[in-house]
Amino acid sequence: MLTCMSAKASVYDGSRLWLPQPVENNAAVIKAPKSSSATINVATAELRSSWTGAPVEMKLIKDKSLGRDGFIITPGKDKVTLTANSAPGLLYGAYRLLAMQTAGKSLPNEIREVPSYDLRILNHWDNLDRTIERGYSGSSIWVWDELPATISPRYKEYARANAAVGINGVVLNNVNASSSILSAGYLHKVKAIADIFRPYGIKVYLSANFAAPMQLDSLPTADPLDRQVIKWWKDKASEIYRLIPDFGGFLVKANSEGQPGPCDFDRSHAQGANMMARALKPHGGIVMWRAFVYSPADADRAKQAYIEFQPLDGQFDDNVIVQIKNGPVDFQPREPYSPLFGAMPSTDCMVEFQITQEYLGHSNHLAYLAPMWKEFFSYVNPKSIKAVAGVANVGDDTNWTGHPFAQANWYAFGRLAWNPALTGEDIADEWLSQTIFNGCNVPAEITAEVIDIMMRSREAVVDYMMPMGLHHLFAFGHHYGPEPWCAIEGGRPDWMPSYYHRADSAGIGFDRSSKGSNAIGQYPDNLAKRLDNPALCPEEFLLWFHHLPWEYQLPSGDTLWDSLCRHYERGVVETRDFQRRWEHVQPYVDPALFDDIQRRLKTQVRDAIWWKDGCLLYFQELSRLPFPDDITPPV
Ligand code: GCU
Repeated sequence: MLTCMSAKASVYDGSRLWLPQPVENNAAVIKAPKSSSATINVATAELRSSWTGAPVEMKLIKDKSLGRDGFIITPGKDKVTLTANSAPGLLYGAYRLLAMQTAGKSLPNEIREVPSYDLRILNHWDNLDRTIERGYSGSSIWVWDELPATISPRYKEYARANAAVGINGVVLNNVNASSSILSAGYLHKVKAIADIFRPYGIKVYLSANFAAPMQLDSLPTADPLDRQVIKWWKDKASEIYRLIPDFGGFLVKANSEGQPGPCDFDRSHAQGANMMARALKPHGGIVMWRAFVYSPADADRAKQAYIEFQPLDGQFDDNVIVQIKNGPVDFQPREPYSPLFGAMPSTDCMVEFQITQEYLGHSNHLAYLAPMWKEFFSYVNPKSIKAVAGVANVGDDTNWTGHPFAQANWYAFGRLAWNPALTGEDIADEWLSQTIFNGCNVPAEITAEVIDIMMRSREAVVDYMMPMGLHHLFAFGHHYGPEPWCAIEGGRPDWMPSYYHRADSAGIGFDRSSKGSNAIGQYPDNLAKRLDNPALCPEEFLLWFHHLPWEYQLPSGDTLWDSLCRHYERGVVETRDFQRRWEHVQPYVDPALFDDIQRRLKTQVRDAIWWKDGCLLYFQELSRLPFPDDITPPV
């Protein structure tokens, strides 16, 4: 059998991501529409360099049902026709053709795709000194010191990779924003990046610090109703649009984790957001205003965003989108969906996923996140939200994301933002064929095995870290290892794991039922009823919503304690299994890639045991119950 290593082209190059491989002396016949543009030129060039099929004719048409970015591919007798309303639509169609070619898929009679969202955006938490908040794959790819004079070739590759999965917006800087990004010097650097991105249909956005007028220009206040402040933001918007006519807008983290915001001046989030939105409005820009707010003073952190934002429904201007994390706490391996979704019917809302694995083993653990995001969409109707954002996992590592499989999360984010109905399996299959299996003659059962590992990986992480609805058992600060015992004197109670697990000699879990904090009351009635009853509450959310005795009888017949132990055990067993099954892949992939993933899986198994042992030994001190016989006792 022809294996990967017997074909020269198939030596794995992680820096290439899922981008089409150029074909030497390619003779593709590509006909572009008369009204050319930089974007159409990119589409033409990509096809010319890599398409090996029948001639492609691209046409711009007027078809309302395709929306702004949709496309139709129709293979004919002697040519393939690609039509779209816009140049980006043609570009997305071109990349789809190339992805199908790489995957060895034959074209069906017609492919018709219309993205579910107009805004599919990555949020970089990159600081101006090139550190990345919660980044695990090197330094920021934005080399601010060299810009605008020096343009790293990576900017273009990054733009291509995003366009190839349909991502059309990028927030360049951290939500904990330095005001300096809005200074004239930095705006020229931002312009240089925007110019590179434009042909790829990607708009640039910036995280804005609400106190920028005070910090940059010494205004005495940042009160959103102050005339000088309003003028400052208007002038700033005009300055930006003079440089970047298609600037997307601002992302704002306000009155959250110490960031300034309108509440500092007794104004509401809506007043703050609208003031900035009005400055951007004449230029076509938007404000994405984050709902990630909580404070130690209030009772249950999981309730706070809803309490602060829901009453503001209907008060936001039409170019404001409220950006809500998928869960009510903070990107945990598993959370129920945030009850704010569906609770603000007169406000545009968008979801914020986290692609970077802050709470899922950083770049060391294989955790494919498509199943987690699909789970969100199984509770929240995709049609009820306006846009999708993802916190990027990109850095200047050679392969961009540290763990080779972390690339799949960037890819899957883009694909699901394009079409949330795609399955995790199909996306994994597409990604594998374009990346680690590209050019390799991999038997179907091996591909199926790797897809299966990917599909099970997130649940394994949940099991060995915090099963059954447990959350935030993380070590303080870095969020990598377990620390359910963490108690820092004088530390914020809502930053301590004990705030979340509430384990004591009587039992474990956070009582958010109607008898407890009643966070359950923020969900729609029919769901709330189910969640409120521990016998009906899905097991994966049990300890999120209930504090239960250690020997509570589950519907399965197990006690809570035994089941908890078995989940931790299962997480370890699954991870070991991934390690064992990865061996089957060895003959088919590049040896360096094989070794890299094998090494990381070894670390993951070590960490899974560390999590299981640490958590179970700690909880046993409280439960005082023996470990069930069928698990390996922690040491
Ligand atoms: C988490 C994360 C922070 C980040 C914050 C946010 O709390 O740990 O680093 O700034 O989320 O989303 O704003």
